[in-house]
Amino acid sequence: MSGASVRFATRLVRWQRQHGRHGLPWQGTRDPYRVWLSEIMLQQTQVATVRDYYPRFLARFPDVAALAAAPADDVMALWSGLGYYSRARHLHRCAQEVVAHFGGQFPRQAETLQTLPGIGRSTAAAIAAFCFGERAAILDGNVKRVLTRHLGVADDLAVAAHEKALWQRADALLPTSPADMPAYTQALMDLGATVCTARQPRCGACPVAADCVARREGTPERYPVKTRKLKRGQQTLWLLHAHQTGQTAVWLHKRPARGIWAGLYALPAFDTRSALLAALPAGVSVTDHAPFIHVLTHKDLHLHPVSARLPGHAAPATPGAWHADWAALGLPAPVRRFLESNASTAHAGDAAPLLPSPASNQEP
Ligand code: ADE
Repeated sequence: MSGASVRFATRLVRWQRQHGRHGLPWQGTRDPYRVWLSEIMLQQTQVATVRDYYPRFLARFPDVAALAAAPADDVMALWSGLGYYSRARHLHRCAQEVVAHFGGQFPRQAETLQTLPGIGRSTAAAIAAFCFGERAAILDGNVKRVLTRHLGVADDLAVAAHEKALWQRADALLPTSPADMPAYTQALMDLGATVCTARQPRCGACPVAADCVARREGTPERYPVKTRKLKRGQQTLWLLHAHQTGQTAVWLHKRPARGIWAGLYALPAFDTRSALLAALPAGVSVTDHAPFIHVLTHKDLHLHPVSARLPGHAAPATPGAWHADWAALGLPAPVRRFLESNASTAHAGDAAPLLPSPASNQEP
């Protein structure tokens, strides 16, 4: 057992070699394009999901030049289902900036990487550490948990000065050798994801438990301390599922660049059922589906889909267009699930009300 007399970083690096995660598709490369892409995908999405999306994205966009040259809709379509779509827009813009301003080569310093769209301080440090061995500290949500526990920092990190102080403590813990930076950075991520977890930390498996303040106190789950409570918002949206007799096309609206589902194709959304009905020609019969809740970061969406079968020549009086190829578009996940489970009957005579799969998912 390594006791507290061995440096924090040294214990983590040793632990990573034996107990950390290895063989993930984005490990074993120092190509900043690949590392950057994985870090952006992993920002708010679980490893299991990214394992799926990452190779598909790379197959379509093998390098930064290919991504920069792609139409935005293609990038959104490949991102569809990963959620947090501002990431995809920033990703695309970042690729274009790397090509336009850095000759297609990612900058090597965290400080410069941080000036690019979608790359925050922690992501910049991860790329610089993994690819170039820079001694730059990461501090994402998992690492904040690990460090506040280990150091016994009970300050609310929503206060900027407290967060700044934690960055300084994170810097002070870095290994002295740049050669250790990739393993150390991965170790912190792995420890947060597999041992120092939010609810049931496995302190018995932790390489730095010997001098962990939170463990000594007996209630590591208390950290990180949050004194401000965020009140979750609630929003109800009525979704118009307009289709035509005998056709697979669905009326979809490209959402504006800001707000919910920005830049994605979605069913037209209305604040009330009567506003939705007002967009339909008189006499069209509608089918109400069971409402479902879709959980976003800061609010719960209560979605009420309503199907309407329109006669061949008619269109709803709301911005949008008929799309027969909807499956290939960038759609929010709940909209895709709804369309998939309702496509088969959408044009088969009287639609039986079909339930979308219950959504206890995260972002779109
Ligand atoms: N989360 C963020 N970056 C990660 C990485 N490189 N490996 C595993 N999980 C991560």
